[in-house]
Amino acid sequence: MQKNTLTAWVNGSFLPLELAVVHIEDRGFQFADGVYEVVACVDGVFLDLDAHLARLESSCAAIAIVPPFTRPKMAALVKEIYDRNPFSRAMVYIQVTRGAAPRAHYPATPLTPTVVLTSRVLPQPSTASLEQGYAAITRPDIRWKHCEIKSIALLASIMGKQEAHNAGVDETFWLDQHGHVLEGCSTNVFAVIDDVLVTHPLDHQVLGGITRDLVLRLACSNGVMVSERPWRLDETGLTECMLSSTTNAVMPVCRIDQRLIAGGKPHAVALQLRAWVIAAMESPAS
Ligand SMILES: Cc1ncc(COP(=O)(O)O)c(C=O)c1O
Repeated sequence: MQKNTLTAWVNGSFLPLELAVVHIEDRGFQFADGVYEVVACVDGVFLDLDAHLARLESSCAAIAIVPPFTRPKMAALVKEIYDRNPFSRAMVYIQVTRGAAPRAHYPATPLTPTVVLTSRVLPQPSTASLEQGYAAITRPDIRWKHCEIKSIALLASIMGKQEAHNAGVDETFWLDQHGHVLEGCSTNVFAVIDDVLVTHPLDHQVLGGITRDLVLRLACSNGVMVSERPWRLDETGLTECMLSSTTNAVMPVCRIDQRLIAGGKPHAVALQLRAWVIAAMESPAS
């Protein structure tokens, strides 16, 4: 198979990426009226593909878009876009918008959703990041009140990422009005507090990360105590922080707002969880 050019899937056709376009009146473009998924694949094996497709369906349902395909058909498309692109370690992007129509907040007629899939290389952390862990800043949460929906309306997250970039760090962590750490712009966040792995419970303030779920399952099955509760960075007994996402697996976070966490070095629980998640990616049956 010729794999020199990148291939996208747009509304029923596989096309060279540079020819893959959507209508200027697509509601994704004009209103961010859509949802998305990112799925990781290593050597042809997808990590938790079914869970990602289930979340895509619930995101669609939350904004009253009828899922465009059955789950098996969507899974087949995801696999085909992976096969048609040159990356053995890939992240497949799926976007579903309400469709294209003359601009009006409420569309005059039912629309056919726009569906786009691409496959890009799965990013790898640098050696320096693996040795030193990530750094983050915290900011008051400025996002909307339905963070459990994986919406393409990501302006607040982009502003958070810009601030992180300008501060020379990797991520911005959103805080609620009580100083609880909710999640990052594109990551879930965990701490180790008094030897318990702690993360914010699932509610409208956080996305139910597929990797978050995997981390909790791996922790439980390996005897790490887990608590889903609101938590703060100034709690005594906090010894580690880490983030999780499809594109990061688990990464230790060792500097937050200039404060060193765990003495500024990746520590045992984060490294162990990273190793378990990566093992799950590389051999999901184990
Ligand atoms: C706000 C937010 N939280 C958490 C995550 C991590 O989710 P997952 O592990 O499913 O990639 C993401 C991923 O994009 C995200 O955007």
